[in-house]
Amino acid sequence: IKFVCHYNDGVDQHMIWLIGLKNIFSRQLPNMPKEYIVRLVMDQNHKSLMVVRNKNNNVLGGITYRPYLSQKFGEIAFCAVTADEQVKGYGTRLMNHLKQYARDHDGLTHFLTYADNNAVDYFTKQGFTKEIEMEKERWHGYIKDYDGGTLMECKIDPKFPYRD
Ligand code: ACO
Repeated sequence: IKFVCHYNDGVDQHMIWLIGLKNIFSRQLPNMPKEYIVRLVMDQNHKSLMVVRNKNNNVLGGITYRPYLSQKFGEIAFCAVTADEQVKGYGTRLMNHLKQYARDHDGLTHFLTYADNNAVDYFTKQGFTKEIEMEKERWHGYIKDYDGGTLMECKIDPKFPYRD
């Protein structure tokens, strides 16, 4: 397997992976409107960190986020692993790759996400808390208000080697 990060840049292979990821989100996040998922995954302000099986080039899961470069934080929009591959550690490895990638390529120091209630435990294990440390002026008005989820924050360590 390999971890890759791409956005809708018109490269055929990147689009094929993004469509594969969009299909995983549609299946794993049934409460999210499909058009909304497509719109954000294909939006050029969003990037997706994906885990890909080398053998058949299939996407197994991923995380779509929007980096707010001026504010140095990222908003995680969607996160999922395909059903057959859950609870094998890919969700943890994806988040570790994402933290390192966003720190080293985007200069981010924090992530925010609205976690589904059934995903709060997963995000807690990945270092997210319900206490928001960032000053409200830094993020308020940037991320969309959304009820039906718990706002959670993760601080990215400036030096830690997250990647395995
Ligand atoms: N029920 C209970 N515990 C779980 C579950 C589950 N369904 N899935 C993972 N865990 C636990 C694992 O046991 C593990 O705990 P451990 O570290 O103590 O062993 C930990 O969470 C991480 O497990 P991974 O194998 O790394 O996670 P996985 O590859 O399964 O990915 C994910 C986790 C992304 C939440 C996956 O289960 C999934 O796609 N779920 C459905 C979609 C979803 O709910 N996504 C999040 C919505 S919120 C949002 O997108 C902003």
